Amino acid sequence: MAPSSPTTTATEPGPAAPALDLDEVGLRALGARLATRLAPGDAILLEGELGAGKTTLARAILRGLGHPGEVPSPSYTLVETYPAPPLRLAAAHADLYRLEPGAPLDDLGLDEALGHGILLVEWPDRLPAGHFPAALRLRLDGAGGPIRRLTWTAGPAWKGRFPPSD
Ligand SMILES: Nc1ncnc2c1ncn2[C@@H]1O[C@H](COP(=O)(O)OP(=O)(O)OP(=O)(O)O)[C@@H](O)[C@H]1O
Ligand SMILES: [Mg+2]
Repeated sequence: MAPSSPTTTATEPGPAAPALDLDEVGLRALGARLATRLAPGDAILLEGELGAGKTTLARAILRGLGHPGEVPSPSYTLVETYPAPPLRLAAAHADLYRLEPGAPLDDLGLDEALGHGILLVEWPDRLPAGHFPAALRLRLDGAGGPIRRLTWTAGPAWKGRFPPSD
């Protein structure tokens, strides 16, 4: 009998990817908890299809940082900035859905924003591959229903900070 080939093992299920299933209240609560753990220079990339909940999560993070008012979606302005104070940390919230391919990123001021605060980016797939390598990558799936599945990629900089333990 032939020894088992590598293709046999490739079809076996691997370890389950970390995931959380959250209703909207739960997603907002997670954003509020995450906000307490943020430090200057943190970038959070928010992935997921239209209506996935990226802005909902960004709003919860900004409110958790102390933003008292409305949080407009930056769909047309591309970037909205929030000073500290009143926020605990300065923040920039970007939505790159309408970013023209090849448009100069420098004009958006994303790297500058990271120099003194935190950055939240919706539609980060518009960025060149590998931009913000230390970022926390959050992905939301399940648009249209009440529950979103949150999956993530968190490098060493996020150890002990994401997922938030309480
Ligand atoms: N569990 C949930 N988490 C987040 N949003 C939810 C959930 N359940 C329902 N919703 C609703 O889904 C919608 C999410 O819209 P939101 O603007 O946050 O999405 P988005 O990912 O930013 O979309 P876009 O790509 O257009 O910017 C809101 O209307 C929200 O009320
Ligand atoms: Mg949005």
